Amino acid sequence: MAQLSALAHHIFYSQISTKPEINLSDACANNLLLSDYISQEEFNDFFSKQVMSYADIQGDLGLRTTILNNLYEDFNLEDISTFSGAQEAIFATYLALLDKGDEVVVITPCYQSLNHYVNDLNINFINFQLNFENDWKLDFEGLEKAISNKTKMLVINYPNNPTGAHLNKNEVIKLANIASKYGLYVLSDEVSAFSTIDAGDRWCFSNYYDKAISISVMSKSFGAPGVRIGWSLCKDQEINRRLKRSKTYLSICTSRTDEFICNKLIKKSKEILNKNNNIIFDNVARLNKKIPKNLWNVHNAGIVTTVKTKKEINLIIEDLLKQDILILPTSVFGYEGNYFRLGLGNLKAIDCFIDNLEHFFN
Ligand SMILES: Cc1ncc(COP(=O)(O)O)c(C=O)c1O
Repeated sequence: MAQLSALAHHIFYSQISTKPEINLSDACANNLLLSDYISQEEFNDFFSKQVMSYADIQGDLGLRTTILNNLYEDFNLEDISTFSGAQEAIFATYLALLDKGDEVVVITPCYQSLNHYVNDLNINFINFQLNFENDWKLDFEGLEKAISNKTKMLVINYPNNPTGAHLNKNEVIKLANIASKYGLYVLSDEVSAFSTIDAGDRWCFSNYYDKAISISVMSKSFGAPGVRIGWSLCKDQEINRRLKRSKTYLSICTSRTDEFICNKLIKKSKEILNKNNNIIFDNVARLNKKIPKNLWNVHNAGIVTTVKTKKEINLIIEDLLKQDILILPTSVFGYEGNYFRLGLGNLKAIDCFIDNLEHFFN
């Protein structure tokens, strides 16, 4: 049987016996309520007319059109495929493009599914580690040195989970040039790409490089993790053909009900994103007044940031659990030390963090 690597954040959750009431490390925007965006009539209409046959493997045409029209520029319908979450899209990409013994360079810290895969395939994940003390700045020369003749793919995640670091468009072009020079695929995990103050700071890597697979999803910027729809964007049709084949081994197609809901929500993306992003940026403004600059990084984008604590992180975790409060240490994302991921998507969670500052810093 193929051996799958255990994901550290799931191991961490499984060791906690109760489900804490407050999660200070949630990476999702404030979870939305469907009835705020979809009327009873629209649901009734869907339920009375929808036949529950398999849906289109590449993703419902109407949904793909809505995603492209509302969220992206310069893509064709053949460039986009839907998946059951970003999680499936990541796995499908590795299944489609990696061979036994390949090397993958991953900029870390990062979400665990990006540098873990089926153990038996001996995929060699080379972690290119960025640092808190250096403001998570990307060292392009160092990155180029990490690429060898075995490297098949570069994996990036911006805005980053767990750091909140982001790249500007010039840096994206620089990365695309490096990938092109070495003929690499790029998996660009962009799950919180729509959580920027300024829409001008948003980019999609696949607009800059044909062999890139950009991945996004409903769970993060939209705050709808229960709608299991993610998507990939890629301008190379051979890659898209292989992604589609991978999907036939996984979910085959996304749920018709989720496609319907997702289509309605994305048509209201301006309203939803404004609401969610205002919460994030109010939270950032509040934190700016409360936490010294050297204990967290200037927040650029995304829904999370990494905070450095003055006390031992495991003691803080224990202390907070007694009060039914959960935090995730960054060690589960491959970054050791007294740091944790702070979620910025929820007002109540930041209230709770501010009320408990002495646990972290005294
Ligand atoms: C960076 C990143 N990529 C991918 C995913 C997977 O997203 P989903 O659970 O919506 O499939 C997550 C979820 O936390 C994430 O943080």
